[in-house]
Amino acid sequence: MKNRYRNSDIYLQRALNVIPLASQTFSKSITQFPQGVSPLFIERGQGCRVWDVDGNEYIDFMNALLSVTLGYNDADVTKAVQKQIENGVSFSLPHRLETEVAEIIVELFPCAEMVRFGKNGTDATSAAIRLARAYTDRDHVAVCGYHGWQDWYIGSTTRNLGVPKAVRELTHTFCYNDLDSLQELFEQFPGQIAAVIMEPMNVTWPKGGFLNDVKELAKRNGAVLIFDEIITGCRFAKGGAQELFNVVPDLVTIGKGLANGFPLSAVAGKKEIMLFMEKIFFSGTFGGETASLAAAQVVLTKIMNQNVVETLASQGKKIIDGIVQLIKKHEVEYIFSVSGHPSWSFLQTNAVEQISSWDINTLLFQELFARGIIALGCHNMSYSHTDEDILSLLNTYDEVFPFIRTGIEQQNIHKLLKVNPLKPLFKVR
Ligand SMILES: Cc1ncc(COP(=O)(O)O)c(C=O)c1O
Repeated sequence: MKNRYRNSDIYLQRALNVIPLASQTFSKSITQFPQGVSPLFIERGQGCRVWDVDGNEYIDFMNALLSVTLGYNDADVTKAVQKQIENGVSFSLPHRLETEVAEIIVELFPCAEMVRFGKNGTDATSAAIRLARAYTDRDHVAVCGYHGWQDWYIGSTTRNLGVPKAVRELTHTFCYNDLDSLQELFEQFPGQIAAVIMEPMNVTWPKGGFLNDVKELAKRNGAVLIFDEIITGCRFAKGGAQELFNVVPDLVTIGKGLANGFPLSAVAGKKEIMLFMEKIFFSGTFGGETASLAAAQVVLTKIMNQNVVETLASQGKKIIDGIVQLIKKHEVEYIFSVSGHPSWSFLQTNAVEQISSWDINTLLFQELFARGIIALGCHNMSYSHTDEDILSLLNTYDEVFPFIRTGIEQQNIHKLLKVNPLKPLFKVR
């Protein structure tokens, strides 16, 4: 039988010779895509569909790690970017697009009075932390969620190799929906915490007034509150999670979906704090690169004038509702559950006795990829997912849930796996 992933496997061997882990992004690497049963390299995309290097077609529910809000090769974004490219991309002086896009962000995000741009989300979160440290003249930070690859954050995870101990000792984790865990940090480091940075929501919804309580607690203790809305920013509401939950932080970081896959991020917030940008150093050659800004102008204008975020939520809700029904139908509550915001929902997998969640997920991914679905335990909606795409996903789960259940009950999941299961990875959410 023809190997469906033949070219992927060939490119993998070539890539491994010249690129450590064969990927620039951990979440796109063979640590997450089981080699031999996965597409490993994508050739092109259109709307919510992508084609791998073997010519296999997929409906993509990963959406370039949530960076594609409208869909691959959105006609308006492509047109604006092409036009900008013809006029030049990076210049010796700032371009008017920097101001124009900043003005839209100020209009959309409740906390935004001033804006600075970066390329990756990590640029924005790291700049926000430096800003908060400068503003408060304090060193320690409290974190909740994932905030990027830089020392100040990644040092607080188990993936901290290469981060100096002195840096690691300045970052402290608190738990979502657990105000006491943040209170304890303020007691442990009185007058020393510069910033509380958190994803306003990821897998679970905020309970009661949790976000407001965090805001009050940070304020009482003189810390800057930063909502890391790299994901939620262009997704949960026109003005991000801060609008959805009606809790306005001091600073916000946005990225990912801001420019429909073009590299752009931003830190924005209160003028009084943002003006410290003039004193700290946050500066990069490509900070004002105009192709990405032209893309962002189109994305933000569409978010402002069309039902983009409303559609992400309403289409995503159909997925959540459908999965809830399928879990019931196949009596797989002990294996799967669904959670999260409809625009970014999670299919969570439990370990079952001796069978780890990694084993079950490897089988799940193997079977989804074979049926032309790219999803790694979450559903990242784009404006281009249609009812038909959602039906295809649900029909796939309708086949795969009972297949996995039978595998578990007959204790033969390892026989159904065509490759070795994925190894456990560090968890940030
Ligand atoms: C909430 C959040 N913050 C920050 C980052 C870092 O962004 P980037 O990978 O673009 O540096 C990510 C990336 O996944 C993220 O999800």
